[in-house]
Amino acid sequence: MENSKFQQMIDDFTLDSDAIKEIAASFRYDIDAGVRETGESSLRMLKSYIGLPTGNEKGEYLALDFGGTNLRVVLIRLEGNGKFEVIKKVAKPLVKPGEYDFICADANADELFDFIADMVEKAVDGDHDKKYLLGHTFSFPSAQTNIYNARLIIWTKEFATKGVEGEVVNDLLKAALARKNLSNVEPTAVINDTVAVLLAAAYKLGNVNVGSIYATGHNTCYYETYTSAGLGKPAMVINMESGGFNKLAINKYDYKLDLESEKPYEQRLEKMVSGRYMGELFAYCLDEAWGIGKVSFTSIDISRILADNSDTLNDVCALLKEKTNLDIETEDAVWVKALAETIASRSARIVVATYCGIMWHLYPNGGIPKQYIAVDGSVFEKMPTIKENMQKAIYEIMEDDADKLELVLENGGSALGAALAAAMEPVEG
Ligand code: BGC
Repeated sequence: MENSKFQQMIDDFTLDSDAIKEIAASFRYDIDAGVRETGESSLRMLKSYIGLPTGNEKGEYLALDFGGTNLRVVLIRLEGNGKFEVIKKVAKPLVKPGEYDFICADANADELFDFIADMVEKAVDGDHDKKYLLGHTFSFPSAQTNIYNARLIIWTKEFATKGVEGEVVNDLLKAALARKNLSNVEPTAVINDTVAVLLAAAYKLGNVNVGSIYATGHNTCYYETYTSAGLGKPAMVINMESGGFNKLAINKYDYKLDLESEKPYEQRLEKMVSGRYMGELFAYCLDEAWGIGKVSFTSIDISRILADNSDTLNDVCALLKEKTNLDIETEDAVWVKALAETIASRSARIVVATYCGIMWHLYPNGGIPKQYIAVDGSVFEKMPTIKENMQKAIYEIMEDDADKLELVLENGGSALGAALAAAMEPVEG
């Protein structure tokens, strides 16, 4: 095997300190432009019509978490003081190979939302009388005009169900609930999953302005007071749809992935960092090195490679054998692992650059106060090396301010955030 080929691929995925500082600066530029609505930003900067919770929200609410291939409906009791209790939880995948698939282009909105309404019915134990307010975490770019009205702009994460793009998702849900005689369940609020993470962390910990998802998909929101921009608008959380940031230099593998994706030219940043795509980038590289053809690697495979810390890298060799039938030796496995590490590290470094860009936007004159950055998602939580790489990137970009930022895992915030959104007073504006 020619090592130089692997070295070239690794170089293609490497971002040094200057490169991530530049990304942070250009991301900040797009935030500023987005807030001022100059038309130059590649960020959607979607208004959420919600602020931060006080921590004292109380009551029983239904939460629908619709964000990836696993759907959850949860009945939650908010107890105030950052406390809550899950009373009931119903979870189902949206795809069961050989049985059903509600996210492919053959599925339609009614089928999808009827499936969701069935789950709601289970979560309320078939109760068709008691009144429930439902908060909906819907993790796709949606244009909102108030806390209820969120219209799906475009599917991401390779979702393709027909008849949902362009629609008000809560209207589709309401109609499905009505078809099941569940008009006692009233959807009142829709938020993005990043917003849910931020609300959940703010409820439990306080002192947090940024919520982020680092999983199958990737995106970040933050609490915008409009003070640093000198604009007198009502403060609220902004869903940046940071996965759509497109001022990044891409390599030939990114380019190929983009062209072969469901939505070419969209979600450029997300396609470089999120769990849905890292394995594919890796597969393209192996194909170039060894002509393996179209083999699907997932981020779970990447995690498995990164977790092999043995001298012989036997598990890396075993994985390659399982997936591609290639017999490789330790010497080649070292390169394979180094490549996986670089793809993962690029991802972590880009994500952190966006967080730092937010900080520079919020505190243009310095004086960043100590705070948490709340993150949820399988890549952040489970992929080896990610947290270490993120921490290292924070030091490289923020230098003396690095100790002001603490990354914190907000696990399962999607449901809690949805319940909070149903409980909170919305922001008008
Ligand atoms: C969506 C975002 C979402 C993120 C994480 C992206 O594909 O566009 O709205 O927050 O995935 O789930």
